[in-house]
Amino acid sequence: MLHINIDYRHCLEFIGEKDIQSYQQKIDTYHHALWHKTEQGNDFLGWTDVASRTSDTELQTIEDIAAKLKAKSDIFVVVGIGGSYLGARAVIEALQPHFAHLQNTDKPQIVYAGHHLSEDYLYDLLQVLDNKDYSIAVISKSGTTTEPALAFRVLKQHIEHKYGKAEAATRIVAITDTQKGALKSLATQEGYTTLVVPDDIGGRFSVLSPVGLLPIAVAGFDIHALMRGAKDMELVCKNSADIKQNPAALYAALRHALLDQGKQIEVMVNYLPALFYFSEWWKQLYGESEGKQHKGLFPAAVSNTTDLHSMGQYIQDGPRLMFETVLSVQNSQHQVAIPKDGANTDGLNYLTDKSITTINHFAETGTTLAHIDGGVPNIRIEIPEIKENVLGELIYFYEFACGLSAYMLGVNPFDQPGVEDYKRNMFALLGKPGFETDTQKIQTRLQKK
Ligand code: PA5
Repeated sequence: MLHINIDYRHCLEFIGEKDIQSYQQKIDTYHHALWHKTEQGNDFLGWTDVASRTSDTELQTIEDIAAKLKAKSDIFVVVGIGGSYLGARAVIEALQPHFAHLQNTDKPQIVYAGHHLSEDYLYDLLQVLDNKDYSIAVISKSGTTTEPALAFRVLKQHIEHKYGKAEAATRIVAITDTQKGALKSLATQEGYTTLVVPDDIGGRFSVLSPVGLLPIAVAGFDIHALMRGAKDMELVCKNSADIKQNPAALYAALRHALLDQGKQIEVMVNYLPALFYFSEWWKQLYGESEGKQHKGLFPAAVSNTTDLHSMGQYIQDGPRLMFETVLSVQNSQHQVAIPKDGANTDGLNYLTDKSITTINHFAETGTTLAHIDGGVPNIRIEIPEIKENVLGELIYFYEFACGLSAYMLGVNPFDQPGVEDYKRNMFALLGKPGFETDTQKIQTRLQKK
């Protein structure tokens, strides 16, 4: 049985059941297209069955590599950007204790690099790595992305200087394309352990491949359970396109019905800081898959109740452009009692018979009702707890709904032509060989201004 439940009662004040149902035919078409590979981008549908295709032996191999790295590392540096970074971080930060970096455990601390171009960040990281034992996963499907390649060049020098070239090579795992790309060539030349990003899985759909699985395993989480959850959702998504049976199909239909009502922004709402990076992963998945040809919902995210004190005003009362999708978690892992206080100066004694999680749920319900009154439709995706199997289900659910939803917009979910434009300008400005014509054009343009 699935752990995800979608409650869309609070959409029905804005759209009718008929509006939602009217998408069934389109969903049937694209459900078929996803499973029979008949639409655009069909070379990149490996994620649809990666959970059932990945054998226990393959997972064991990843765990064995992870165990070797764990045994000799206080810190594990994950180098990657976009889809080669966010999925692992989303799962690890959802599962690990909030103050993992301040606790003494036998697990390595996971840190990230190559996901921006901050020089001070890299400097600070090197300072920390001077005094700690560490290892690295360098993750890039293309093997040519500037940010991770640059960070890895610096880290490679550091780790080789610290341990010597031979030992450093045992502390580096490259996760990249099977055959091509600069990282693949480097890994072969230096003798790094290599894991493969499957040809038919693009970055933002790759968390259930070695891209996400190795860092998650090094962080000490159960990748078998994660994949089991994904497999459960895969089965449901495969067996039926019916929005009454398939939660991903229902979510896709709801998004489109709300978009038709002029709701152009979807705000993913969580009430737990542990889910911050899950929202970041979701933003990339939907933003890069749908935002094409001037189409697509803008994916935004808030973390409540924190953001009720910053963005709450806008959501309640700003332009009526958005709907909310709340990812609601029923149970916490731990309990903290609220003490009774004789003086009750802060007036909080009325809360002492409740758990903090219950208070958080009331905050969620109160906010939902207020936002509905303010004209913001609400979809609620409920999960019982944050555990590996539930996250596996959730990841597959969002991926499948994304594939469907983007096809329903008429765009290719699996390319990202728009991200090349900034790169061309940046390379031209930096004087990268091969970009000379662009350099001239851009210099003329900047001079005009
Ligand atoms: O989803 C995507 O395809 C992108 O976000 C990529 O993952 C990102 O640009 C990093 O690419 P690469 O793995 O080739 O370094």
